[in-house]
Amino acid sequence: NSCKMCKSADERLESFVASKEFDTAFHRTETQKQKCGFGLQGVCCRLCSNGPCRITPKSPKGICGADADTIVGRNFLRAVASGSACYIHVVENTALNLKHVGETKGIIKSEKALNHLAEKLGIEADDKYEKCIKVADAVLKDLYKPRFDKMELVEKIGYGPRVEKWKELGIMPGGAKSEVFDGVVKSSTNLNSDPVDMLMSCLSLGISTGLYGLTLTNLINDIMLGDPVIRMAPVGFRVIDEDYINIMITGHQHSTFTSFQEKLKEPEVVELAKAAGAKGFRLVGCTCVGQDLQIRGEHYQEIFAGHAGNNFTSEAVLSTGAIDMIVSEFNCTIPGLEPIADELKVKMICLDDVAKKKNAEYVYLDRNKYDEIDRKLINEALESYKNRRSEVKIDIPKDHGFEQSLTGVSEKNLKEFLGDSWKPLVDLIANGTIKGVAAIVGCSNMTAGGHDINTVELTKELIKRDIIVLSAGCSTGGLENVGLMSPGAEELAGENLKAVCKQLNIPPVLNFGPCLAIGRLEIVATELAAYLGIDLPQLPLVLSAPQWLEEQALADGAFGLALGLPLHLALPPFITGSKLVTEVLTEGLKDITGGHVIVNPDPKSTADQLEEIIIDRRVKLGLKD
Ligand code: SF4
Ligand code: FE2
Repeated sequence: NSCKMCKSADERLESFVASKEFDTAFHRTETQKQKCGFGLQGVCCRLCSNGPCRITPKSPKGICGADADTIVGRNFLRAVASGSACYIHVVENTALNLKHVGETKGIIKSEKALNHLAEKLGIEADDKYEKCIKVADAVLKDLYKPRFDKMELVEKIGYGPRVEKWKELGIMPGGAKSEVFDGVVKSSTNLNSDPVDMLMSCLSLGISTGLYGLTLTNLINDIMLGDPVIRMAPVGFRVIDEDYINIMITGHQHSTFTSFQEKLKEPEVVELAKAAGAKGFRLVGCTCVGQDLQIRGEHYQEIFAGHAGNNFTSEAVLSTGAIDMIVSEFNCTIPGLEPIADELKVKMICLDDVAKKKNAEYVYLDRNKYDEIDRKLINEALESYKNRRSEVKIDIPKDHGFEQSLTGVSEKNLKEFLGDSWKPLVDLIANGTIKGVAAIVGCSNMTAGGHDINTVELTKELIKRDIIVLSAGCSTGGLENVGLMSPGAEELAGENLKAVCKQLNIPPVLNFGPCLAIGRLEIVATELAAYLGIDLPQLPLVLSAPQWLEEQALADGAFGLALGLPLHLALPPFITGSKLVTEVLTEGLKDITGGHVIVNPDPKSTADQLEEIIIDRRVKLGLKD
């Protein structure tokens, strides 16, 4: 395949993609090089039939009179509302799944997680099933409230000093779904024209997205799917074994297929695979749901092959020919998969009608018919395996990835690992051995220097400066596939961090799993702040979503800003056409929530900037610099 291709930080992935004939995002990045300048700056408005209006120095206003600030504000709020909606959809389904577990006395994998969450929410119940129902109902009740009725759990799971700040600013979110609804209303034609008011709505959306879509989704998932366990696991294409019937999973809603993954372990089901000529069934992790399975992999050893790669690695995973079925349940299932699946005769099934793929069979997940649905999925996988294997060539780059990569880190087990206290980590930070903490989160994209390039380079620069990195999201998939969580990665760290890694036997980059686990990082940050008796903006902690991709990432980013954190992005959101919006997000916000956006496409100077912020905070806290 001689045509030009986008680069990846993962060279083996890049050479594998180049060796195949399939059209992938790596190729399409080249044909989409020419960007629309108005779109990039966020100054194209097509809200009414007078448009599209595009702002230029010669035409500074749309036909209705909207200026660049209003247009950018509306476009940005609309994007944040959509992103929030996606995460709220996830937490709503997750809570409904938990409620179903309670009502049907289903599988509770971690009673500890259930008690932990119930206690956090102040919920008591006679038995564990009733507890599940009450926890689920408390979450759902908040999601469904009207906008002027504030969500109750924010006060219970939000960090005290932050909640006070949010109240003072008047940005405490009302019902999460209503916040999305009104975000869409506000950003329609000839309604809101005040960009600052719209940015404040973005912060409210950020809070509801973060505390519910992220934090609560994880805590509920832990109950149904088991707590993450720190362990070594193989990563990359090497996890794919052609001797099995391989089912690739993509999306974000792990709790939608709990029943299916249990079913795949049953001896009778394994026998079906054997009768078809395979050793059994295996789930191949891809995108965030694969990360979610990976962090809980301890509970699914028999059926989980491992995590193969992130969103833009998925086409290449499919190109190996060793995948027999794709089960998708939410986003990051890129449309580019579809023609490759058709060509390689891979059955596609989607489990959520908001993510119906055009060549996939949609299976309605009736919670009362899991048995029937599981049987159908198993039969489809068997059929697909039998139909395609003799016709399709398999080529798995077994040298891709790493045999050992540390995974499964959570806010709970990290603290346990440190001796049931944050003191050892705080001490290391206080005495300067570890300069500070950077959360590298979010997606992977193809445009910030190439696939995962900025993420990987920035991470290397940070660990070199003795800043420990915690990661969550597709960025994690990229970092692990280049070995930054494998033994030996400590050699890339600064002398002090390297010594800590050696002593504790950990890599300098800790894998918290899916983007949802940004919620876990928020808990780590708030617990560290609480231990020190300070607010979040005082912590020597920075946030970066170097290769943010989508609207969901913007909603995550709004959460980071509401938390008062410095947030780095390699590429700006589509806001630069408005001086006002850009100024508020990059400067003005410092005096509002304490957070601000830093845009810098260069990893080295970004690391310098982030290090400077960390050192400044250390000095203000009176720590050794
Ligand atoms: Fe143009 Fe205003 Fe209509 Fe937007 S809403 S397309 S700026 S006239
Ligand atoms: Fe994700």
